[in-house]
Amino acid sequence: MMQGDVSTVGLSGRDFKRLAEFVQGYAGIKMPATKKSMLEGRLRKRVRALGLGSFDQYCRHLFDEGGWDTEVTHLIDAVTTNKTDFFREPEHFRFLADIALPEMAALGIGMQKPLMAWSAAASIGAEAYSIAMLLADFAAAQRGFRFSVLATDICTEVLETAHRAIYSEEMIAPVPMDMRKRYLRRAKDSASHTVRIAPDLRSRVTFARLNLIEGPYELDLAAHLLFCRNILIYFDKPTQEAVVGNLCWHLLPGGYLFIGHSESIAGFDLPLRQVATAVFQRV
Ligand SMILES: C[S@@+](CC[C@H](N)C(=O)[O-])C[C@H]1O[C@@H](n2cnc3c(N)ncnc32)[C@H](O)[C@@H]1O
Repeated sequence: MMQGDVSTVGLSGRDFKRLAEFVQGYAGIKMPATKKSMLEGRLRKRVRALGLGSFDQYCRHLFDEGGWDTEVTHLIDAVTTNKTDFFREPEHFRFLADIALPEMAALGIGMQKPLMAWSAAASIGAEAYSIAMLLADFAAAQRGFRFSVLATDICTEVLETAHRAIYSEEMIAPVPMDMRKRYLRRAKDSASHTVRIAPDLRSRVTFARLNLIEGPYELDLAAHLLFCRNILIYFDKPTQEAVVGNLCWHLLPGGYLFIGHSESIAGFDLPLRQVATAVFQRV
């Protein structure tokens, strides 16, 4: 057994390999050797919180003593990057407002049944609420237009934050001023410098845990808009193709898929045609 304290004794190559294989198998997230110090840094706090003295003890707890069941969400939280922003990659929101929504409205989408949008790696909800704000603005101008947004993520901790819908003033900086008035409510305690998404808008967004690599998804959803942004980049190519293939089953013909601007699905055999930068339409 490795002796010493977690602050002084690092993650061994063997333990890193075990953790990396587990994380890639479970969540699809690639963990090359260059990620070793990142993993070490992020897990150190968790190892201490569990009252364990070393990474070696942590791995035994996880793999050999049946701890993985309760620990897996913490491990995934530690390895995932949850960085997000309201109205991140604004070209997508311009495309939505200027092209996708007018086109869909002309086809009567959202009138008989609600337009369905899915934020498939939602993190703390900024993406889902940005979509909801834009759709709510559209609904205000189009009588009878209805919508619903589903936000999913593998990480339960970020989903809880998304559900609470409380954000720092700094975080909501990208939200246009007029939308802030309509869709954000200042916290009662002004010293907290936080705002909360207005109840009406919150009621349009539902949250669920979904692991994108566990397809086909048990999801009764046919989406018109599907955002799967800044997550494919963490997967290897075969996983990316399998994930987007599974997403296509939940995207209606004519519906739009948005991926991150730094991601690519070029060369994949999928029923999609590219219509703008990082925007694809289901054929
Ligand atoms: C960088 S954030 C992207 C958030 C948002 N889509 C955006 O572009 O701002 C990536 C999110 O993907 C989630 N994630 C990682 N692996 C996943 C998986 N296998 N299935 C579902 N979500 C996953 C992470 O928990 C994280 O919240």
